[in-house]
Amino acid sequence: MKMKSKSILVISPEQSVSDAIGTALSDKSDIRIDTEVSTLSQINGKAVKMAADYDIVLFQTSPESDADISAIQALAKDRGKGTVLVAMADDGISLSQARALNRAGVDEVLPISMIGAEIADQISKIDHASEASAAGKAPMGKIIAVAQARGGAGSTTVAVNLADQLQGRNKKRVPVKPGKVALVDLDLQFGTVGSFLDMDEQDTLLQLALDGTIPDATFLGQSMTTMHNGLSVLAAPSKFAPLDSLRTDQVAAILDTLRQSHEYVIVDLPRALVGWIEAVIERADELIIVTDISVSSVRHSRRLIDFFTTDNLTLPVQIVVNHEKKPLMQSSLHREAAKALERKLDHWLPHDPKAANAASDKGKPLSNVAPRSPLTKAVARLATTTQAGFQTASQNNRK
Ligand SMILES: Nc1ncnc2c1ncn2[C@@H]1O[C@H](COP(=O)(O)OP(=O)(O)OP(=O)(O)O)[C@@H](O)[C@H]1O
Ligand SMILES: [Mg+2]
Repeated sequence: MKMKSKSILVISPEQSVSDAIGTALSDKSDIRIDTEVSTLSQINGKAVKMAADYDIVLFQTSPESDADISAIQALAKDRGKGTVLVAMADDGISLSQARALNRAGVDEVLPISMIGAEIADQISKIDHASEASAAGKAPMGKIIAVAQARGGAGSTTVAVNLADQLQGRNKKRVPVKPGKVALVDLDLQFGTVGSFLDMDEQDTLLQLALDGTIPDATFLGQSMTTMHNGLSVLAAPSKFAPLDSLRTDQVAAILDTLRQSHEYVIVDLPRALVGWIEAVIERADELIIVTDISVSSVRHSRRLIDFFTTDNLTLPVQIVVNHEKKPLMQSSLHREAAKALERKLDHWLPHDPKAANAASDKGKPLSNVAPRSPLTKAVARLATTTQAGFQTASQNNRK
């Protein structure tokens, strides 16, 4: 573990929680742990004073509690330079609750089930990230590549609306700082992200293809469109560009630059597996394949999995079955598909033409035009599990 004499303050009303953390970190002689058996709101003022002296403050919280949220805000406001705030919340914490904690000032949210053996890894990871940011380097954002098992399977619908859900709503209509999620349409010839979001034409990728330059942060910052909720979008060109006119090093630079300034980079992939896809494969933290369970789509999905995982063995792959709501009992066809893919069919998006058509007619994300529709809710669940997946200790932290 890469830690030089760190101090941790654990605040929990349950002695057993503090004890479990103490035990899990007991072989780390370079870590000093102090505990406060209390809720965060009970020791609010004292916690604020104490927190300034610790590298990491780990506290148990209930995101529904307004008192906890204000205690966190006070803690975040007066924390010491470099103090990292880590909330431990119930395993069932929702995406919006995790976001509320982040907004209040929490740096990391850990499910309470992780306070066992996995906590040491988590602390090490958090510590590593805070050292990187203290050194002026932002922690790397996660790259999620979205592929399709057949044309029209719904990969752009998933890419656009997953990006929108991860970015979150801007309910107060105050200007949002861009930076959380970037959406990149690498379906160079047939990309439709721009029309899904009713954007003005953007020929950035064509310009790169033509002049062959390597894009940097300034260029991308000036070229990308920021949506009203802060989502940054790099659309496919409106004019025709040969698929292989981009180079691997250009695609690599786009992804490397964006993941330094965004928590998530969502990539809508083309159906053809062109050379520069290698840059995406090497960097992807997750691959989402949008499919149906017809034999041909399942076969193509299998080929995609094999292609992507040959050079990226630990790449997590999520299968999203589109146009089907989650069945109560999986049929034999479902079981056969899961077997062929060697993956559980965990994510289902119902056939919901009303919501899908409303989104495409208005050129807006589903959450905007049909917030309560079954399709929107299913994409929101996908976003929640995606985010939670990256937060769990079992996640492959290959970067
Ligand atoms: N669950 C759904 N219910 C109803 N309509 C849907 C659903 N998912 C996608 N659609 C619609 O299907 C069409 C194709 O979807 P989309 O463009 O997302 O697919 P794609 O895989 O990106 O296709 P392409 O091959 O053009 O890239 C769109 O009109 C979209 O609105
Ligand atoms: Mg598409």
